[in-house]
Amino acid sequence: MSEIKCIGILTSGGDAPGMNAAIRAVTRSAIFNGFSVKGIMRGYKGLVFNEIVEFKSQSVSNIIQLGGTILKTARCKEFTTPEGRKAAYDNMTAAGIDALVVIGGDGSFTGARCLSDENGINVVGIPGTIDNDLAYTDYTLGFDTAVNTVLWAINNLRDTMTSHDRVSLVKVMGRRCGDIALYSGICGGAEYILVPEVPYDIQAIAEDIKKSKERGKTSNIIVLAEGAGNEQEIKTIVSVISGADVKVTTLGHIQRGGTPTMADRMLAARFGTRATELLIEGKTNRVIGIKNNKIIDLDITEALSQTKKIDKHLYDMASKLC
Ligand code: F6P
Repeated sequence: MSEIKCIGILTSGGDAPGMNAAIRAVTRSAIFNGFSVKGIMRGYKGLVFNEIVEFKSQSVSNIIQLGGTILKTARCKEFTTPEGRKAAYDNMTAAGIDALVVIGGDGSFTGARCLSDENGINVVGIPGTIDNDLAYTDYTLGFDTAVNTVLWAINNLRDTMTSHDRVSLVKVMGRRCGDIALYSGICGGAEYILVPEVPYDIQAIAEDIKKSKERGKTSNIIVLAEGAGNEQEIKTIVSVISGADVKVTTLGHIQRGGTPTMADRMLAARFGTRATELLIEGKTNRVIGIKNNKIIDLDITEALSQTKKIDKHLYDMASKLC
């Protein structure tokens, strides 16, 4: 592997709180170690269409506290073709970039792997997605902040639902992964948590709500993960069987924004500095993660081959606490 002098950074896929803190950590640790840094705008699109800017230490001042990504992010159709990736590679080399740090989720890592396989470019991936859907790491950047945003919403909903003796059905994001629902449901004290990974019987839940009403429990919170059912259908079944007044709240993109929490900023600092270290050590085609509070790295292909599973212990625990 030839000596690396210039590191390019991009953010790709859905933005996640903590991405800016990670951009800052990669930039500052790279400059500290004598590399030059370039920021690539709008993810892979910026590589294909040559939107590459010089990054100095001051380029990442005052961003640690900001949600979103100053590098922006976009979906790029052109990058899915070998011709598009060749154009990306040509622009990268013309800009003097000889290693790429990609902050994103599984789709972004797949793009990085293709670029590396086809053109031999050095890549390192930092997991950044609110979904926490990457199997090889305990946490992804943005997950903690997103769960805290959901908790804020659940707390507010609980106030009004209790006052009106209503049932709140809160729909959260996560794509095919139930972690946002599971963690926010446990920490928000939800009575029911519906995730795509575990089958559930909505009729039985509705009957349960009816019985609890007869015992004097007049309000309930149901957290519904994206991919675990249709909120309007669930609302109808629960209302008809239990007789409860069910209100649906879809939190949507509000979960993706906001100032990153301490946990996400710390993760960003640790992931970002490790990315630079890996390149100094000559390790490439790696993704960074965290396991049992230790920063780890592994081969991209190996990481992508792992299948994310729900934490069954946490899921079972939740049912004992409601
Ligand atoms: O991957 C993050 C995420 O917010 C998912 O939870 C959600 O399914 C998806 O992105 C929404 O994507 P978009 O912002 O393109 O609608």
